[in-house]
Amino acid sequence: MTAIERDNLAVVTGAASGIGLEAAKAFAAAGMRVVVVDRSDDATMRAALEIGDLAFPMTCDVSDRKAFDTLAATIGQRHGTVSVLMNNAGIGAGGDVLAPSADWDAVLGVNLMGVVHGVQAFVPAMLASDAPGVVINTGSKQGITQPPGNTAYNVSKAGVKALTEGLAHTLRSHAGGRITAHLLIPGFTYTGMTARSDEKPAGAWSAKQVVDHMLTGIAAGDFYILCPDNETTTAQDHKRILWAAGDIVE
Ligand code: NAI
Repeated sequence: MTAIERDNLAVVTGAASGIGLEAAKAFAAAGMRVVVVDRSDDATMRAALEIGDLAFPMTCDVSDRKAFDTLAATIGQRHGTVSVLMNNAGIGAGGDVLAPSADWDAVLGVNLMGVVHGVQAFVPAMLASDAPGVVINTGSKQGITQPPGNTAYNVSKAGVKALTEGLAHTLRSHAGGRITAHLLIPGFTYTGMTARSDEKPAGAWSAKQVVDHMLTGIAAGDFYILCPDNETTTAQDHKRILWAAGDIVE
């Protein structure tokens, strides 16, 4: 038995749009019940309607620890133990290192603390059950390559990488491979987040391509699920990403 199975439960944050919405659709297509978590009632409800009968909309701001803990308790009571947790909610609003602190608070609060909250709210119950589990955290190539000008975002995603590595270690020692952690590393992907960008890079992926690749990576047991190169990633950056992912690069 694997975690991604008919009737099992998935929780996806940032599931009203983009990569999260496609992931929620894919889990539902596999026959899983999916809790669709996003920050606004309307968007969450719309996404759940689009996903279908197996979707359960729940509104939560992932940066709010108390709200997240309440969400986890409600999900536990209504639906039982989570098999797949995808901490994916994110905001692109960045800011240079000298930008006003509000940007930093928002970006770190959602992109990094949102993942911390998700892990702390759900993983203890996953460990306490004896069922297989999967935790996917959405990082970014920028968390590894650290391009200039968007430091707050880059730092948040570097934090997600470190957090997921720490989580994988913890899961190996406490669950012996029964629950696996995965770091999804998309490149430039056409979603709500990038819709306003002037960049339309050749080779950019759709959210569905990212999710298909993610499912293949999970099935293969890959920790780093790196979406292969496109023209937004220089050859040098690609080497750095592969090196960070543990591959040997000449
Ligand atoms: P998106 O904007 O289409 O989806 C993000 C979702 O997160 C939205 O539905 C939004 O409402 C939700 N969200 C934002 N703040 C929230 C909060 N505080 N609480 C709950 N939900 C919240 O963007 P996309 O591209 O699908 O992003 C998904 C993840 O992928 C993010 O973590 C992003 O950083 C990451 N990513 C995206 C890339 C891209 O090129 N689109 C590249 C690399 C990483």
